[in-house]
Amino acid sequence: MKIPLNTSTFDDLEINAAIDVLRSGFLTMGERCFKFEDEFSKYIGSRNAVYVNSGSSANLMAFFALTNPMCPKGKFGGQRLMPGDEVIVPAVTWSTTIWPVVQAGLVPVLVDSDPYTLQMDINSVKKAITGKTRAICPVHVLGNSVALQELQTVAKENKLWLIEDTCESLGTRYDGKYVGTFGDIGTYSFFFSHHITTIEGGMIVTDNDEMAELFRAMRAHGWTRHLKNRQAVEQKYPDIDPRFLFITTGFNLRPTEINAAFGMQQLKKLEGFNQARRDVTDFWIKELSPIIKTGAFKPMQIVEKTVPTWFGFPIICESNELRNRFQKHLESNGIETRPVICGNLARQPAMKAVNHRVAGDLTGADTVMDRGLFWGSHPMMTNEEKNYVLKIVKEFFT
Ligand SMILES: Cc1ncc(COP(=O)(O)O)c(C=O)c1O
Repeated sequence: MKIPLNTSTFDDLEINAAIDVLRSGFLTMGERCFKFEDEFSKYIGSRNAVYVNSGSSANLMAFFALTNPMCPKGKFGGQRLMPGDEVIVPAVTWSTTIWPVVQAGLVPVLVDSDPYTLQMDINSVKKAITGKTRAICPVHVLGNSVALQELQTVAKENKLWLIEDTCESLGTRYDGKYVGTFGDIGTYSFFFSHHITTIEGGMIVTDNDEMAELFRAMRAHGWTRHLKNRQAVEQKYPDIDPRFLFITTGFNLRPTEINAAFGMQQLKKLEGFNQARRDVTDFWIKELSPIIKTGAFKPMQIVEKTVPTWFGFPIICESNELRNRFQKHLESNGIETRPVICGNLARQPAMKAVNHRVAGDLTGADTVMDRGLFWGSHPMMTNEEKNYVLKIVKEFFT
């Protein structure tokens, strides 16, 4: 039997919606994208949602908006970022949390993560703060949540921006609210393997209306065409043809109507998908508890006040040697595995060329890199597949 990390979660609903778009003749960003943004912002509980072509693009826009001359003030007192300002990021994350920080001329400061929750360690964050710190970018890793209450307090006390990279945790709740809505900005990914897919795609959310307008301009060349307050802006520049009016620098990060048509169908299924992810992981944790009790491995520990959405089933093994043998056993029995994302990002070769700082030691992140792995917990998994995984894991440890 083969247990892939993910299988496709779309059916005729998404396919027919995409065909309708093709038949309509209007494929580039338009009404469907804006409707998807409205539906997403209502679902997630944020005043604004701006749809882009990937989660990486959402992160790129977040850090370029924070350095933009039009950047408004942040809700915890954050001010426009200047070159060389420091942004605290976890060492355990995906590469494109950190590259946009660097690309925007800022300095990433890597802090340690708890090897069992996989989330950024709040004490390490506090110790990393210097006179140059201007922002914290927590990452909700693999469906869990960072301890957001403590982090909001740190942001308030130090007047910092809080940008939540939520690309791996769409639908995770912390203290009753969806993660990604606690800080100034939240970013999401809709890549194929994520909680919902729009093929490629991402969303950036904020309660700050001025910031959202900046995102809308930056997403499309710095152009005013899709601003909500387009007319008010145009009236300020009577000598420029309003059809081609540019108010800032920008990119082309636009999604298409096909992506939005997919997204609207997928969003309706999200809560069901996430419950299925919890059901399969609850089943494994219960059935594997005798092995877990021996200390051979630990599944990801859920952060207090969090309702997780398990983007895979991450475990930390007792030793590197055990992890390597166990990984081989899973793969040779058709169960696809992955490392726990980039492991300790400070050890990735790309970081040699990146101006960054490491604050404190990264022993937690090293543990994740040396002893961690995950396999799939996707929502389409059948009972037969869940039981097969259980059997193969048990076979190795008994
Ligand atoms: C934490 C994190 N941030 C950003 C991204 C980038 O998202 P995308 O693949 O949509 O560009 C990912 C992708 O998996 C991710 O895991």
